Amino acid sequence: MKVIRVENQVEGAKVALELLKEKLAQGAKTLGLATGSSPIEFYKQIIASDLDFSELTSVNLDEYVGLSEDNPQSYRYFMNEQLFHKKPFKESFLPNGVAEDAEAEVERYNQVLADHPIDLQILGIGINGHIGFNEPGTSFDSTVHIVDLEQSTIEANARFFDKIEDVPTQAFSMGIRNILDAKSIILFAYGASKAQAIAGTVQGEVTESLPASALQRHEDVVIIADKEALSLLDA
Ligand code: GLP
Repeated sequence: MKVIRVENQVEGAKVALELLKEKLAQGAKTLGLATGSSPIEFYKQIIASDLDFSELTSVNLDEYVGLSEDNPQSYRYFMNEQLFHKKPFKESFLPNGVAEDAEAEVERYNQVLADHPIDLQILGIGINGHIGFNEPGTSFDSTVHIVDLEQSTIEANARFFDKIEDVPTQAFSMGIRNILDAKSIILFAYGASKAQAIAGTVQGEVTESLPASALQRHEDVVIIADKEALSLLDA
């Protein structure tokens, strides 16, 4: 696991953009994408770049159950606004939050991942160490599944909604196994609220109680973080 300390999100995005360019030069065809505030600057810099994504595929980590693509809080809407409408891919996959048959949707998305192996996966990290929506306790062998969100995650994500009651209580998420199957991974972490999760991810025990610690088992992970998020790492 490589940790790169950056001043801020602008510098972090620049570092990530260079890594992305390397992977594209090596033939990367499929990007795994994340929502949340941490990758936003990266998406901005992608849009501003001359990179052409018209031959690339994207596969997103997760989506809230119950939110449709025209709901501004859905992850599909977020991705459309932050990236897809300005830098279109050949095809972009997300779970369908309003699928009538949730089990069939889980199966469909596992098939999407089987058909489109991820070359570079972008991740943020939850305050509790979740990646995607894989909450503490999720099996490292998990594939796409429906998650019951932790109260702390609902509270953390309430900032994007008018009121906390509007935050969905479930989500579709790639599993930890799917994430570890990506050829390479970049994880962004900014701010003191992520410090504990990052210390455990980098230096702690590999345990299902801290989902991101699974990344220690992967051979190509780069963590891009600011000094606040790195503040609890032992020197
Ligand atoms: C959500 C998403 C995660 C994201 C996390 C952190 O729970 N499901 O994929 O990493 O939030 O978000 P932020 O980057 O806004 O701190």
